[in-house]
Formats: sequence, structure tokens, C-alpha cells
Amino acid sequence: MYLQKLRLENFRNYINQEIELINGINLFLGDNAQGKTNIIEAIYVCAFGKSYRTQKDNELINFNKEYCKIDLQYIKNNIKLITNFYIDKLNRKQIKNNDVKIKKIAEYVGEIPIVIFSPESLDVVKGSPSKRRNFIDMICCQLSKSYIIYHQEYMKCLKLKNSMLKKDRVDDEYIRVLHEKMSNNIVKIVEFRANIIEKLNNYAKTIQKELTESKEEINLIYNTDFLNMNVEQVNKYLNDHLYIDKLRMSSIKGIQRDDIEIYINGQEVAKFGSQGQKRTALLTLKLANFELLKNEKEEIPILLLDDIMSELDSKRINFLLKYIENYQSIITTTEDTFVKNIENIKILKVSNGVLEN
Ligand SMILES: Nc1ncnc2c1ncn2[C@@H]1O[C@H](COP(=O)(O)OP(=O)(O)O)[C@@H](O)[C@H]1O
Ligand SMILES: [Mg+2]
Repeated sequence: MYLQKLRLENFRNYINQEIELINGINLFLGDNAQGKTNIIEAIYVCAFGKSYRTQKDNELINFNKEYCKIDLQYIKNNIKLITNFYIDKLNRKQIKNNDVKIKKIAEYVGEIPIVIFSPESLDVVKGSPSKRRNFIDMICCQLSKSYIIYHQEYMKCLKLKNSMLKKDRVDDEYIRVLHEKMSNNIVKIVEFRANIIEKLNNYAKTIQKELTESKEEINLIYNTDFLNMNVEQVNKYLNDHLYIDKLRMSSIKGIQRDDIEIYINGQEVAKFGSQGQKRTALLTLKLANFELLKNEKEEIPILLLDDIMSELDSKRINFLLKYIENYQSIITTTEDTFVKNIENIKILKVSNGVLEN
């Protein structure tokens, strides 16, 4: 699949902009604060129904307007399709795919598969476990609608449990009922995560070898309390730890504590890796993410690369450009010095919310 046309109305600093995209490299070039990342964000919003930069949907609306609209036209199996996103100041939100209203976002996510890589992505390698869980969850959500539902159900129960744990009098029976529901979800989520991490690890190993001329070996380890447990075992485990939950007034066990440890040559990269090793590991993970989605969905994901060229050295840039040359990517940059001998590229200059032709 590939994206063909993006239309923005009152979205961030764009008032009315139509953008034709090529099935190759689309390079958005411009100074800081001109609206490059806003393009990436608009595409992301169409794929996930929400932004990654804000929880508040109506921040997407231009400061001086009452609503915003994004239309994203794309081609899948030679068929022209379209997603429309609308939000207004009163938080009335609507997403349509081919004129059909999306009632539950789980029904839709995955329709436009995406891999996003931005300077903040480095947190996947060096930040807290939540960043790595998000990274994995974003892949899982694009691959399975039921994963999204299990995850949503689990988080809902967790919220109820945590607010009960903060009360003066904790109703144990109520929490045990929640645990039964959560155990079901945990088993499904852990099984799915484990499977994805194993596959991701295999792709990452191959890519890391190529990227480092076999000098570095990468290894991902899924760190969870629940590997290979059945529903009863998980339920017992949660109940057995309830007394600590009560002491701490918060849930200490659950898939919200899972982590994915990343090792390079046997050492944890978050703790011992150099800056360069962290960047290489991240590039490997993102390309492994791309391969995994591509092969599992049998569809080519869209690569969104936001301002990362300045973070990579020329060797890694060349590797990346070679890798993506046959796919569609949306790249933002302040400098186009790396653009040499590249075919199939469209350069779009961005200036204060307007694209120059
Ligand atoms: N809701 C909004 N309405 C109008 N302008 C906005 C809105 N949100 C952000 N902006 C503007 O968008 C610009 C930043 O765009 P961005 O795409 O992040 O820039 P960059 O080109 O550096 O990636 C800033 O000038 C900011 O003021
Ligand atoms: Mg930016």
C-alpha cells in the first residue's frame, strides 16, 4: 500500500493544504517550527485516530479555528481508499474510512500500517520500561484487533483496582473479581507480546549484523512475571500479591510492569551502551519493526522518519536510505545534504504552514 494524497484543513499551522505524495521518498525540508513534524503527526492521526504528541485531540485544531479535518487518500491492492479525521473545539470527533464511521478504534487500527522514528524514539533504547512496552504494544495493536481489546479491558480493570487500593477500606472481594478478569487478559497479552518479541528479535539479529559488519550481536529478552502461566496460575499470583498491593496502595504486579531488555554483545545497552551503540540498536529495532509488520500483514508499512537524519552518521544514513529506497517514506529534515544519487524522491519545501512548489 502507499499514501497518495494528504489534505489538511485547520490542522495545527496548516489552514488549507493539499499534498501529493509519491510512492518513494517524500522529503519535507524546512527550518525549525515551520510545520514539518505536523505532517508526520497528521498521517499518524489518520492511522491511529489520535496523536502521539498530545492526549488532547483539540490541540490539533488551528489556534484561530473551530475544527480541523485531515483527509488521507491511499492505494491498497490497486484500490483508492480514504480516511477522514474530524475534530472540533467541543471535542466532537469523527473518523471515517471509505465513508463508514469508525465506532471503535480497535476495528480500524492497522488499516494503515506505520513505523515512526523520531528523536524521541531513542527513549525506547535508553528510557523507562514504559517506552519499550509502548514500542511493542504499537506493533501488537497494528497486528491484532483482539490485542487492543484485551489491553483496553485490562487497563480499565487496573484503573478500578488502583482506585480501590487508595480507599480507606479496601474491598478484597471486589479486587478478586477484577483479578479474574485481568488474569484472562494477561494470558492473552503475554502470549502475544512474547510471540512478537521473538519474531522482532530474529529480524533484529539479521539487521544488526549487516549494520555492524557482524561486530555487534543484538538480543531482546522479554521480562515478565507471567511467561507460560495459565489463567489459574496468573489469578493465584495476583491474589497472592494483594497484601503488598494494599501496603503500597497500588498494583505492584501485572503486565504494566513488563519490560523488554535489549542486549548488545551480552550487555544491556541502556546501561552500558555508547551513544553510537544506542543509535544503532534503535535503527535496528525500527527496521526490524518494519520487516515484522510487512511480513505479518503482507503489506508494506509507511515509514515516518521525523528529523532523524541529523542524529545519524553518514554510514547509518546510507544504510537506512538503501533499505528504504523501494518503499514509501515521509522524511522531515532541516538539511538535505544527504540527498545525493537518490532516485524516486520528491522534495517539498515547508515554510510557515505552507508548502512551496
Ligand atoms: N494548534 C495549532 N495552531 C496553530 N499553529 C500551531 C498549532 N500547534 C502548533 N502550531 C505551530 O506549528 C509550528 C511547529 O510545527 P512543527 O511541525 O512541530 O515544526 P517543525 O518544522 O520544526 O517540525 C509552530 O510554529 C507552532 O506554533
Ligand atoms: Mg519537527
